[in-house]
Amino acid sequence: MSAPELDGRATWPRIRPAVRHRVERAILREMPTREDAPIRGRDPSRPPARPAPPVLPGDDPGSIAIAAERLRAGGLVVFPTETVYGLGANALDAHAVARVFAAKERPAFDPLIVHLADASAVGTYAEMEDADDPRVARLAARFWPGPLTLVLRKRDVIPGIVTAGLPTVGLRVPDHPVARALIRAAGVPVAAPSANRFGHLSPTRAAHVVAGLGSRVDLVLDGGPCRVGIESTVILLAAGRATLLRPGGLAIEAIEAEIGRLEVLVDGAPRTAELAPGRAGAHYAPRIPLVLADPRDPEAALAFVVRPGERVGFLAASAAGRAAAEAAGGPFAAVEVLDANGDVVGAAGRLFDALHSLQAADLSRIVAEPFPDVGLGRAVMDRLRRAARAAGDVREEPAFNR
Ligand code: TXA
Ligand code: MG
Repeated sequence: MSAPELDGRATWPRIRPAVRHRVERAILREMPTREDAPIRGRDPSRPPARPAPPVLPGDDPGSIAIAAERLRAGGLVVFPTETVYGLGANALDAHAVARVFAAKERPAFDPLIVHLADASAVGTYAEMEDADDPRVARLAARFWPGPLTLVLRKRDVIPGIVTAGLPTVGLRVPDHPVARALIRAAGVPVAAPSANRFGHLSPTRAAHVVAGLGSRVDLVLDGGPCRVGIESTVILLAAGRATLLRPGGLAIEAIEAEIGRLEVLVDGAPRTAELAPGRAGAHYAPRIPLVLADPRDPEAALAFVVRPGERVGFLAASAAGRAAAEAAGGPFAAVEVLDANGDVVGAAGRLFDALHSLQAADLSRIVAEPFPDVGLGRAVMDRLRRAARAAGDVREEPAFNR
């Protein structure tokens, strides 16, 4: 561990003693921990515990200073955003970014989003013509910080590995005080995909990250549960285009109210793979089959019949949906209600959390209630359709349709 980091410790007067203990452990983590050390008398039949990364409270300036230093030194730092937790690396350091792909087991063709502390940095990383596009200024002024990613033609300063060789880069200013403090303290743009292993659920709590990535990352900043809970909306605004690449935490209707109609890509079309490589790869594939079925639809009745020995989970859009499902069949081994009133903003916020819980409930299958395809419902349905398709439910319509 370098001396400046240790010296730096003494200059953080506001650090709380309990936090300080954890910060010191983080600084000194190269030293053997209890898990690493040979333990006399340990039961040899028990596998050693999976080493966990240091988890520091995100609201502490000492934690931010440590994490920023880690980023600058080429480390991987997980941080909370308002959408989901991100697995961050210095976007200007190709070697650090390569470690992100390795930690996630993410295919190299899928580009990363670059996170900025504020919109004033757009011109540093995007080509002037796109950075000066009045639509960019409009959207940035209206929705940043927030769950919107703008894909613009990139400047050479962004290494090709960040953008998977594409001439464009996704830029976003996240709306979370921990994320913004970290990016500001690091003084570099932060490339960060969602902090999950490829094909797994996105994390909306620090515990999801620790369970999924463990010591593949250097540090986790805990910021509590993510408020929006679903990934950002991604739109391409390069060379005069305005194309929706991924529905997400900002409703498309809100974007269209600012800049007019967005072009929509259909899954499977040749241009879709070229413009939105993230949609070509595998997506969250539940370890248990997932089907979308409306409990009020008589044609879907079979999905709600629970056979002897079966453990079926139900993902309800609302309390009323739960009641309808319980009237249509059951009993269910586990039920998650996304929002008591079926409010889609609340539902989007709980989607990944609920899926994490169902996934841990030892189920034979999951039935999910569909949402209307408007506003954030589109993003929720996009994720659920992809999960259903990945689980082999080929009856589902194309994942994004409008
Ligand atoms: O809310 C979010 O967007 C979260 C938080 C951490 O910011 N990040 C996130 O990153 O969801 P990731 O890597 O899981 O998803 C990023 C998506 C991918 O589908 C990727 O293909 C797309 O954005 N993307 C990024 N840069 C792109 C580019 N230059 N062209 C086209 N698509 C791009
Ligand atoms: Mg992701």
